[in-house]
Amino acid sequence: MLTKCLLLLVFVTAVACFPNGTFTVDYKNNQFLKNGQPFRYVSGSIHYFRVPQPYWQDRLHKMRLGGLNAIQTYVEWSSHEPSPGHYDFEGQNNLVEFINLAQKEDLLVILRVGPYICAERDMGGFPYWLLRTPNIKLRTSDPNYLTPVDRWLEILLPKIRPLLYENGGPIIMVQIENEYGSYGCDLNYTSHLRDKFREMLGHQVVLFTTDGNGDGYLRCGRIPDVLTTIDFGSGTNVTEAKAILYRHQEFGPFVNSEYYSGWLDYWQSPFVQVAVNPFIQTLQQLLDHNASVNIYMYHGGTNFDFKASGNGGNNYQPTLTSYDYDAPINEAGDLTDKYYAIQKLIKQYLPDTIDDRNVKNVSSKMSLPPVNMTFLATIFDMLPWFVKIHSKYPLTFEQANQAYGFILYQTNITFQPTNPAVLAIPGLRDRAHVFVDRRFAGILSRTQKYFDLSILTHNGSELSILVENQGRCSFSCFSEQRGIIGNVTINKKHLLVNWTIYRIPFQEHSFTEIITQLSQPKTKFRFASSHYRIPSIYYANFTLPNVPEYPLDTFLRTDGWGKGIAVLNGHNLGRYWPVAGPQITIYAPGPYFNEAPDSNQLFVFELDESPYWNDPNNSCQVQFVKQHIVNGAYAH
Ligand SMILES: *[C@@H]1O[C@H](CO)[C@@H](O)[C@H](O)[C@H]1NC(C)=O
Ligand SMILES: *[C@@H]1O[C@H](CO)[C@@H](O)[C@H](O)[C@H]1NC(C)=O
Ligand SMILES: *[C@@H]1O[C@H](CO)[C@@H](O)[C@H](O)[C@H]1NC(C)=O
Ligand SMILES: *[C@@H]1O[C@H](CO)[C@@H](O)[C@H](O)[C@H]1NC(C)=O
Ligand SMILES: *[C@@H]1O[C@H](CO)[C@@H](O)[C@H](O)[C@H]1NC(C)=O
Ligand SMILES: *[C@@H]1O[C@H](CO)[C@@H](O)[C@H](O)[C@H]1NC(C)=O
Ligand SMILES: *[C@@H]1O[C@H](CO)[C@@H](O)[C@H](O)[C@H]1NC(C)=O
Ligand SMILES: *[C@@H]1O[C@H](CO)[C@@H](O)[C@H](O)[C@H]1NC(C)=O
Ligand SMILES: *[C@@H]1O[C@H](CO)[C@@H](O)[C@H](O)[C@H]1NC(C)=O
Ligand SMILES: *[C@@H]1O[C@H](CO)[C@@H](O)[C@H](O)[C@H]1NC(C)=O
Ligand SMILES: *[C@@H]1O[C@H](CO)[C@@H](O)[C@H](O)[C@H]1NC(C)=O
Ligand SMILES: *[C@@H]1O[C@H](CO)[C@@H](O)[C@H](O)[C@H]1NC(C)=O
Repeated sequence: MLTKCLLLLVFVTAVACFPNGTFTVDYKNNQFLKNGQPFRYVSGSIHYFRVPQPYWQDRLHKMRLGGLNAIQTYVEWSSHEPSPGHYDFEGQNNLVEFINLAQKEDLLVILRVGPYICAERDMGGFPYWLLRTPNIKLRTSDPNYLTPVDRWLEILLPKIRPLLYENGGPIIMVQIENEYGSYGCDLNYTSHLRDKFREMLGHQVVLFTTDGNGDGYLRCGRIPDVLTTIDFGSGTNVTEAKAILYRHQEFGPFVNSEYYSGWLDYWQSPFVQVAVNPFIQTLQQLLDHNASVNIYMYHGGTNFDFKASGNGGNNYQPTLTSYDYDAPINEAGDLTDKYYAIQKLIKQYLPDTIDDRNVKNVSSKMSLPPVNMTFLATIFDMLPWFVKIHSKYPLTFEQANQAYGFILYQTNITFQPTNPAVLAIPGLRDRAHVFVDRRFAGILSRTQKYFDLSILTHNGSELSILVENQGRCSFSCFSEQRGIIGNVTINKKHLLVNWTIYRIPFQEHSFTEIITQLSQPKTKFRFASSHYRIPSIYYANFTLPNVPEYPLDTFLRTDGWGKGIAVLNGHNLGRYWPVAGPQITIYAPGPYFNEAPDSNQLFVFELDESPYWNDPNNSCQVQFVKQHIVNGAYAH
C-alpha cells in the first residue's frame, strides 16, 4: 500500500495518496475502530424536521459544547416525498445541509434512514399516499410496498453516499428500519433493505439495527451481517441488558441507540419527566461498560404543522405539538440541568479540549402586547374555496388524496327521522364537529370513544361533519386511514349516502391563498351570534415593538380559545389545545417573525369556540409570552 502510494505521488497530488478515514466494527474486541483506533461515541438525537432550519447550527453547536462527539437523526420520508415521485430537499428539508453543519461543528453523524422511523411522527414517517394502494402491507416484502421504498432509497442514498465517513463526510453509521423486532418478522424484507443499502452505499459503511432489549425483539429485529444495537432508559440493569444483546450477537461493541432522557407526551395526560440523578446514574453505568450511547432525545424540538402522530388504535391518543421530551436542550433550545449534568459526566470519559465557557444557557425571549384577532369567516363561508368531491359513501383522507388537515362531509337527510335521532360514525378518525343546517350539534371523538350523537333533524336537513385528522399512528396502527372509515347511519338503520366532500388541507400555500381572498373587501363576512361554535378563521396584522434585538423566541398563549391551529407568517406552528393540556403555550421561534411595521400575520383556525362567542365586543386576544408551559394542568 505504502509503495503504491509513493509511486502514485509521482503522478498525483499528495491528497489522493492518504487513505480516507475509516470507521469499522472490531467484533473480536467488542469495539469500533475510527481510523484504526478504538473509538466510542456519546451521541444525542436531534431531528432536523423538528428544529427550525435557522436554528440548526445553534442546536448542533450546543450539542458539541455539551461534550457529545456525534448526533443521531432520523430521515423523514413523508417530508421528502410529499407526493409520489415529487421530492423536496430544500429549506427545512435540506438534509445534506444539516449533515454538513454537523460536520462543521465537529460532530459525527449516525443516520437512521428507515424507511419506517416511528419517532412519534404522522404514520411513523411514511408518506400517507402509500395507503392509496389497496391492501399494501407496510414493513413487509410486499412488492406494493417495496417498489416505492426502493424508488425512494434510490433518490435518497446517492445524496448520502458522499457524506459517509470513508468519503470524507461525517456519517459513521446508517440504521436500517426501526425497532423492527417489535413489529414483524419478515426477514426477506429486512435483508432486502440491507442489500439495497449495501448496493447504494458501498460495502464499507457500518449498517446497524436498533431494537428493544428483549429476546423477543432481537429475534426478528436482528439482520444477518448488520450490527445489532439495543435501546432502553434509566433504571435498567445495564449488565442484564448487555447480556441480552450478547445472547444474539456474541461479539461486537455494546451500543444503546436510544437512552431515554424523557418520554413522549399526549394531550390530556400528565407531562412525563425523567429525573436527572437516575438518568446520570444509568448513563455512567453504560459508559463504565464501554458502551457507545445515543441520548434520545438530546434536543426534541417541535411537531410543527400537522406532523405530530397519534398512537393506540382503539385507545387512540394524539401527541403534543411540543416534542420537548424533557430533554437536556429544551424545546426552545435552552440548556437545562440535565445538559450540565451530562456534560460533567462525559468529560470524565471523553476528555476533550472544547472551550464551553461561552455557551449561553438560556436565550432571551420576547413578550408582545396582546394581539387582537379579527373574525374573518366561518368554515361554511369558506366552502367555495375548497376542492369538493362527490361520492356515494364517505371517502377517507387517503381516498380523497389528502395528507393532513380536515375534511368536511356534507349530505342531506331525505327521509323523516325520529325526534331525536342518533347519528353514528363508528369509523371516525379522529374528531368531528357535527352541524345540522349549519348549526352546531356536538362533537364526536375517537379518543373519548364518542361515536354516536343524538341530534334534532328533519327531512331536508343538511348534515355537515367536519373531521379533524389528529395524526396517524406512529406505532403499530400506522396502516390506518384517516377521516370517516366506513358508513354513517341515522338510528343505525338509515345509511346516509350522496356525500359532498370538501378537502381542507390548510397547507401553507392553500391557507395563504384562501386568506388573501377572504381579506378582499368584496368577500367580507360578518360575525353573527348564530355562529356560536362554528369553526372559523381569525386574523391579525401586527407590528413588533421597536426593540433592537427583536424578533426573539416567544410562546403563543391562547387562553379563552378552545382548540385549533395557529399559522404565523405562513408557518404552521402546530395545534394549540390549552383546555386539554398539559401543553398550554406553543413555541413561536424568533426567525418566523418579521421586523417591518404591519408585516406580521397571524391566523388562527379555531375549531371549538373563541372568546368572541360569549361577548362580541371581546377583543378576542392571543398573547405572545416569555414563559413556555408544556407541563401544565390537563383535562381528564
Ligand atoms: C475518498 O473520498 C473521496 C471523496 O472525498 C472519494 O471520491 C473516494 O472514492 C474515497 N476513496 C476511497 C478509497 O474510498
Ligand atoms: C421469503 O423468500 C423466500 C424465498 O423467496 C420465500 O420462500 C418465502 O415465502 C418468503 N417469505 C416471506 C415471509 O415472504
Ligand atoms: C444487575 O443484574 C445483575 C445480574 O442479574 C446482578 O448481579 C446485579 O446485582 C444487578 N444490578 C443491580 C443494580 O440491580
Ligand atoms: C473497557 O475497556 C477497557 C480498555 O479496553 C478495558 O480495560 C475494560 O476491561 C473494559 N471494560 C468493560 C466493562 O468491558
Ligand atoms: C446560566 O447562565 C447564568 C448567567 O450567565 C449563570 O449565572 C448560571 O450560572 C448559568 N447556569 C449554569 C447551570 O451554568
Ligand atoms: C342539499 O340540498 C340542497 C338543496 O336542494 C342542495 O343545494 C345541496 O347541494 C344538497 N347538498 C348535498 C350535500 O347534496
Ligand atoms: C322528504 O322530502 C322530500 C323532498 O321534499 C319528499 O319528496 C319526501 O317525500 C319526504 N319524505 C318523507 C318521508 O316525508
Ligand atoms: C357502506 O355501505 C354500502 C352499502 O351497504 C356497502 O356497500 C359499503 O361496503 C359500505 N362501506 C364500507 C366502507 O363499509
Ligand atoms: C343518491 O344519488 C343517486 C344518483 O344521483 C340517486 O339516484 C339517489 O336517489 C340518491 N339517494 C338519496 C338517498 O338521495
Ligand atoms: C394586513 O396588512 C396588510 C399589509 O399592510 C394589508 O394589505 C392587509 O389589508 C391587512 N389586513 C387586514 C385584515 O387588516
Ligand atoms: C357591545 O358594544 C356595543 C357598542 O359599544 C354595545 O351597544 C353593546 O351592548 C355591547 N355588547 C355587549 C354584549 O357587551
Ligand atoms: C386591542 O383591543 C383592545 C380592547 O378593544 C384595545 O384597547 C387595544 O388597543 C387593541 N390593541 C391593538 C394593538 O389594537
